[in-house]
Amino acid sequence: MNNNYALITGSTAGIGLDIAQELASRGHNILLTARREDRLKDIAEQIVADFGVAAHYVVADLGEIDAPGKIFDFCTSNNYVVDILVNNAGYSINKKFHETDEAEEEKFLRVLGTGVIALTKRFIPSMLDHKSGKIMLVSSLAAFAPPATGWGALYGPVKTFINRFGDALNLNYRAHGITATNVCPGFTVTEFHTASGMQDAMDEVPSFMKKDSKTVAKGAVDAMLKGKTVWVPGLLNKLIAFLCNNLPTSLVIRMSSSLAGGRYE
Ligand SMILES: NC(=O)c1ccc[n+]([C@@H]2O[C@H](COP(=O)([O-])OP(=O)(O)OC[C@H]3O[C@@H](n4cnc5c(N)ncnc54)[C@H](OP(=O)(O)O)[C@@H]3O)[C@@H](O)[C@H]2O)c1
Repeated sequence: MNNNYALITGSTAGIGLDIAQELASRGHNILLTARREDRLKDIAEQIVADFGVAAHYVVADLGEIDAPGKIFDFCTSNNYVVDILVNNAGYSINKKFHETDEAEEEKFLRVLGTGVIALTKRFIPSMLDHKSGKIMLVSSLAAFAPPATGWGALYGPVKTFINRFGDALNLNYRAHGITATNVCPGFTVTEFHTASGMQDAMDEVPSFMKKDSKTVAKGAVDAMLKGKTVWVPGLLNKLIAFLCNNLPTSLVIRMSSSLAGGRYE
């Protein structure tokens, strides 16, 4: 068995779990990481049984500053070569900006922002040595929208930042065989809204605006393996991204207020 692996952060639920299964179904060995060990263990065993690839896991809380180093050391000490890195772990803070404390925002920015940089930084040198690597950044449609003034004030801005980081990776490393793909889902049915205390709001979203996470994961893996720079799931989400990118910001804010009531008041 080869020692090349796809490493997926946040692979105990939702989009990350489905990406892990999608990659395993295409013959890639899998490294899982998240905080819930019982789930990681069960999922790794199931992947081995279902797809006949190797699957291992490392428990890490990406809100902790030493987590990227812990994950990287786990890979190098076991001689696992990460040729696919999926930065997916994420959540949202269901409070207004003035209601959070600094530590809460810093932890959030580590999981969705600086932890992504720290992990990517560690795995790029070996990708450069092999002149090959695929990096997926699971961002959001919110990356294109104006920042919200309601809950999770930093969610959209950090996703915009991640998209620009993906662009920078492509500019710097595409010529060296490494591509980065910004995956920008809209509303997707996962554990995200329950975990972030926002299930009530998600329940009010019309079903035509929601996608299932298996469809998102399959499209995301296709886009990453083809080396696409950005992928937005579904025609409606593509239209929203197009409008956000091309209409005046003031108009987008007015339109967003009616689509995501309360976020832009
Ligand atoms: N669902 C949507 O509507 C939607 C829309 C746009 C973008 N996204 C993005 O998609 C990505 C995946 O979200 P999802 O919808 O699949 O949510 P999910 O079902 O709640 O899964 C989130 C994953 O992230 C992990 N995670 C959360 N906090 C972590 C931490 N501190 N350290 C390590 N792992 C952590 C969770 O595992 P543990 O709890 O076991 O640690 C879980 O595996 C996120 O980046 C999110 O921003 C989601």
